[in-house]
Amino acid sequence: MNLSRKARPADRRLKATLGSAALALMIAVPGCAISGAPESQPAVMEAVEGQTIAAYATALGLKGEARAEYILARMTTAEKLGQLNQMAGGRQLALNSRINEGEYERVCAGGVGSYLHVAGAEFLGELQRVAVEESRLGIPLLFAMDVVHGYRTIFPVPLGIAATFDADDAELSARVAAVEASAAGLHWTFAPMVDIARDARWGRIVEGAGEEPFFGSAMARAQVRGYQGDDLTRSDTIIATAKHFGAYGAGTGGRDYDSADISERTLMDVYLPPFHAAAEEDAASFMVAFNDIGGVPTTANKALLNGLLRSAWNYQGLVVSDWNSVVELIAHGVVETRAEAGALALLASVDMEMTSGIYAADMLAAVEASPDLQAALDASVLRVLRAKERLGLFDTPYAYHDGAREAEVMLSPAHREAALKVAERSMVLLRNDNALLPLKAEPGKVAVIGALAGDARSMIGSWKAQGREGDVVTVVDALRTRLGEANVTYELGAGTREAADPAEIARAVAAAKAADVVILVTGEDYNLSGEARSRSDISLPAPQRALAEAVLAAGKPVVTVLMTGRPLDIGPLDHEGASILVAWFPGVEAGPAVARTLFGDAVPAGRLPASFPRRTGQSPYFIGHYPTGRPADPDLAKDSARYMDIPITPAYAFGQGLSYAAFEYGGLTLSSGTLAPGGRVTISAAVTNTSGVDADEVVQLYVRDPVAQVARPQQELRGFARVAIPAGETRRVAFTLAPEQFAYFAPSGQFEADAGRIDFGIGASSADIRLTGSFRLTAPIVAAGPAAAMATPVTVSEE
Ligand code: BGC
Repeated sequence: MNLSRKARPADRRLKATLGSAALALMIAVPGCAISGAPESQPAVMEAVEGQTIAAYATALGLKGEARAEYILARMTTAEKLGQLNQMAGGRQLALNSRINEGEYERVCAGGVGSYLHVAGAEFLGELQRVAVEESRLGIPLLFAMDVVHGYRTIFPVPLGIAATFDADDAELSARVAAVEASAAGLHWTFAPMVDIARDARWGRIVEGAGEEPFFGSAMARAQVRGYQGDDLTRSDTIIATAKHFGAYGAGTGGRDYDSADISERTLMDVYLPPFHAAAEEDAASFMVAFNDIGGVPTTANKALLNGLLRSAWNYQGLVVSDWNSVVELIAHGVVETRAEAGALALLASVDMEMTSGIYAADMLAAVEASPDLQAALDASVLRVLRAKERLGLFDTPYAYHDGAREAEVMLSPAHREAALKVAERSMVLLRNDNALLPLKAEPGKVAVIGALAGDARSMIGSWKAQGREGDVVTVVDALRTRLGEANVTYELGAGTREAADPAEIARAVAAAKAADVVILVTGEDYNLSGEARSRSDISLPAPQRALAEAVLAAGKPVVTVLMTGRPLDIGPLDHEGASILVAWFPGVEAGPAVARTLFGDAVPAGRLPASFPRRTGQSPYFIGHYPTGRPADPDLAKDSARYMDIPITPAYAFGQGLSYAAFEYGGLTLSSGTLAPGGRVTISAAVTNTSGVDADEVVQLYVRDPVAQVARPQQELRGFARVAIPAGETRRVAFTLAPEQFAYFAPSGQFEADAGRIDFGIGASSADIRLTGSFRLTAPIVAAGPAAAMATPVTVSEE
């Protein structure tokens, strides 16, 4: 990767044959040639000598929308198409590698509106300078990257951040990422991924907040706030992208990119709420999904994009395609040619085209022949210009290009501290049967076993942005530092993929036998989840399973630390007497976070954002399924909705996670037994920490509508709060609900809630409901949007 300032020849003029109009433009903006002859639109000739169109508009006193419209009116069709062109300035692992002389020429000629996979304050500053000072229009570029769970300071993977069950942690992670990314010259991140993921086979489950739409909506809002702050013109904020709009997480068989063949109700009630929440939070961009819904590729889905997103939701932001998803419309089989693909996408209001280059290269003739395409093109260009206005780039184009700031903020102590905090809070204690955890401060001889314990690359997970292995404190390093080298033996035991070597396993078993306690770090490596990383079998990879079985058979106390980017079938790890801590991929502070949790400096309170099925064949498993006419019955003699070979329940359900403390729930209050249109009902519970350990409890509220026009899910989350409760103290947690939060996509095509009973439960997880009650909706209502997208106000008070 080359982030250094790029040396360029002084004269970048193309030796093209230009008409007199073009020569006039070259005089107007010295140093830059225009590719192709501009059209003879009189408006485009208006440039004042020595100034770009944008600078001239600014000099006229225009700002914001007026400036954007002024510029739009003076753009040629080719320049408009260029403005919608997002080029790869590099690759994910080779940033900037494609920025060569030809790209400077492209910028000069107005052939590009944005680059992705680029970075570096000064390097990008020069590219920006060419766009702003040397192109005819002077429109600044947007620089983008997938900054997903940190830029240089890597936080836990998104599924781990979600496991904190605390929107503030999600916001903090995004905030730190934005501070670092913006200092590196970036304006725009392709995050958060807000796709609901109900199938653990899907590798991209690691990038989101799991299976539940209310929860996913809360996490979506928090991340948008974190990236964008409350003022996008500030130079430490960046545009967030809610992705991948549609039902990308619903691919058949858990396969990436595959068709989502789901009902309209499931789309509206389950997959779209987090997007609705992100739009309400003013996410400045959306990305469309690669896949189709019922045969309609989302990149060309007019009903979804124009009808729902733009019209019904009134979304004014910028919609970007996914990587090559416009040209892939040909492979989907809905068009034959590139120009047709571009036309479909443009007419579906996909504003910016990521990487396939069709808008810029193949559409000129089609647009000039079609008033519809011209109108769509103008609308899209305006949205791109608006995004640039929102960032303040027309007024302060170099605000993101301060090399000193870049050097100062990266991996700062405060950022590392935030990463440590979030990593600790992401840990989920699945089992602790014999209270082996927390470990004693002096546990004697410790055997650390497992390749993942020292695998810095896995600890930073997929989408590492500028994360570096050298920045990671690994689990084994942290344990050695804490306990002293002499007290820790480390054996890899087995790799994460290749066949296990019996000799290495034997060494690991010997180390286990010689130790007082074993810390087995196992699971999947980082490259088994993520994009295009679906698995048909989500059990422990074979070598890890072999190692686990051998180490567990050694008869020593074993604590398992599970690293993973998805729910797993953990097989032999899940035995009577086990202690299992899910660490996900925890980021640069992985080791300290795991060590502090194992030894009780941090008390685990993370919760599962996605259920762990017992077996792969139980996928997709999620708490929001509908009841059936023959509900699952453990009695195999009855024909019911269950498997013959395993119980219907998951191994670990959504919301599950233990603590070193213990909590009692009581004192249920309900403000009223009825909820009328326009009214509110408040449900509260008193939660007491009955242990001697200060700890957090995640108090969860689930609801169910037992009788409606259509079957309603068995469980829906409608409130959660991670609450710090000191030992022996009580906190009252109150959730306030509105009638709209019980609406669903009804046969009428509207969101409706019916009059009647609503059941609720408050507890420590979806599988551990401690208090129950019900109230009545007094009258039917029609809601404006999906219920799961609505936030529930929560208050916490001392008792
Ligand atoms: C992914 C997107 C990502 C884009 C750019 C695509 O393959 O689906 O999530 O933002 O690449 O890196």
